[in-house]
Amino acid sequence: MSRGKFIALEGGEGTGKSTQCRLLAEALAKRGIATDITREPGGTPGAEAIRTMLLDPPGEGWGAQAEALLFAAARSDHVITRIEPSLEAGRWVICDRFVDSSRAYQGGAGGLGDETITALHQIGSRGLRPDCTVLIDVPAEVTAARLAERDAGNSDAIGGRGTEYHAAVRQTFLELAERDPGGFVVIDGDAGPDAVHDRIMAALEPLLAAA
Ligand code: TYD
Repeated sequence: MSRGKFIALEGGEGTGKSTQCRLLAEALAKRGIATDITREPGGTPGAEAIRTMLLDPPGEGWGAQAEALLFAAARSDHVITRIEPSLEAGRWVICDRFVDSSRAYQGGAGGLGDETITALHQIGSRGLRPDCTVLIDVPAEVTAARLAERDAGNSDAIGGRGTEYHAAVRQTFLELAERDPGGFVVIDGDAGPDAVHDRIMAALEPLLAAA
């Protein structure tokens, strides 16, 4: 049994990651590949409990450090009890967000820096990296319009942060991808779901061919 591949979908708010995760899982299933589709923060009962604390925080909310630690704790449980066992069992794991979200949101926009997030990831999740991180990039004006429709003023504690914060998230994602062209593919997400899916499948062809 060969180890499964690990694909993370990343991007800012309203970039269509969840839809693309579903379409990707369906496409892989059609090719006879067993998949485990999951998300962060979440994916296990413990990590889902932490998700609630993060997105609907008690009191004044979390400071930057506590927030980063909670994401890392949720991820640790997810990696050790679900992602690693699935990969070991030969399943392909498709994850809606992973550590690069922490690098972009907490490390970049939140100001903690990449070294801090990478160190937390090393401690919590043995530094696990996806085989491929698919970054779906959408211009800020397009996401603003999509979010106005999706959230209608009910965004969560992180999604509801200002436009400057989200611009820094996007910028950091693009910088991370530029620094690691072998680990990332950047997909233009400013199109309909089927067109974006086709772009993702084309970009993943080398990984699929090796399967
Ligand atoms: P979610 O509803 O999954 O957002 P979206 O539909 O936009 O993907 O909520 C996850 C939120 O948590 C989102 O605002 C991004 C944020 N987040 C971080 O700040 N750091 C992280 O490490 C992760 C995984 C998510």
